[in-house]
Amino acid sequence: MQEFIEFNLGARVIFNAGVARELGPLVEECGGQRVFVVADKGVVNAGLLAPVLAGLQGCVVGVFDAVPPNSSLNAVQQGTAAAREAGADLIIAVGGGSPIDTAKGMRILLTLGGELTDYEGYNVINQRLTPLIVLPTTAGTGSEVTPYAVIKDEAAGRKISGIVSRFVVPDMAVLDPELTRSLPPTLTAATGMDALSHAIEAYVSTNNNPFSDSMALYAIDLIATHLRTAVRQGDNLEARGHMLIASCMAGIACSSTLFGVVHAISHTAGGMFPIHHGTLNSIALPLSMAFNSPAVPERYVRIARALGINEHGLSPEEVIAAGVSAVATLAVDCGLPTRLRDVGVPETALPELAALSLHDGTMLTNPRAATEEELLALVRGMW
Ligand SMILES: [Fe+2]
Repeated sequence: MQEFIEFNLGARVIFNAGVARELGPLVEECGGQRVFVVADKGVVNAGLLAPVLAGLQGCVVGVFDAVPPNSSLNAVQQGTAAAREAGADLIIAVGGGSPIDTAKGMRILLTLGGELTDYEGYNVINQRLTPLIVLPTTAGTGSEVTPYAVIKDEAAGRKISGIVSRFVVPDMAVLDPELTRSLPPTLTAATGMDALSHAIEAYVSTNNNPFSDSMALYAIDLIATHLRTAVRQGDNLEARGHMLIASCMAGIACSSTLFGVVHAISHTAGGMFPIHHGTLNSIALPLSMAFNSPAVPERYVRIARALGINEHGLSPEEVIAAGVSAVATLAVDCGLPTRLRDVGVPETALPELAALSLHDGTMLTNPRAATEEELLALVRGMW
């Protein structure tokens, strides 16, 4: 166990089917009178925004729905200008990771001014920001409760992923399973595997602690139990609800632990090729578990238990292998690709992928140190 633990109980979490249509009282409790809403075209086209706006009873002063698939500096600047012009005093984000990260960036600039790059780093932001309420429409990123803002700097061709502060954590996470009901099976699967990778990476992180452990293990259990149903029966609100809660719990867990080699590889590959973050994590997860397990075998045994593995008559090594295999099978059952070659990564890109992954910040909390050669062997296995 860590000698020093800091665990932030940041966001207030509200869960209820249909609550997205009745946000007025919650906005009032947050002290907001001039609400600015951030979403993307996918949210609008899925008909998810209209009922949210209808429930806000006239306190909405503006809507910014031009958020690109990967939140960008440009979108944050545009959204901030519109919110400032409208005199907004509270932001509501409705969407997956991109609108949520955009709204996080906007609340930073609305409150503090300047450029987002001014706030890169750990706890550079040390004061309260414009209040933010988040309604996730996917069950995966956990961004509704995390202190991270990930924004793409298009001009520099990189992601600003280093903005970390407890003041970035949204004030309220509103989990409404009706908002994830229309999410297509492939996105349900990919985002669900992202949540699973957050829970597993949090549990084995070198920053693990008893608070994050409890959230991570139960999130793994919930995902192993409910992801297949959420993928196959999209309108099963019970499965959808459990996935939203699992994703939120995994987000809480990884807020104090950071990530590991799975995210190092998926951040890097996602920067090199336009591949969905969750799909990449799903591909990287099983072999990364096998790679890391010698460093913390007892933790991988507990992960296997949370995944539902029956240990009877098995050695610890066999239990771990069964856990790795259960994750690989879950991805296949959910219809996701299982190899890097299946998603357009050429074999010639693997040396660069390994070299860049080694220097991704998430490797710092991976339980097993890796050399470039070991990472190359790992990504070759994934290919
Ligand atoms: Fe992730």
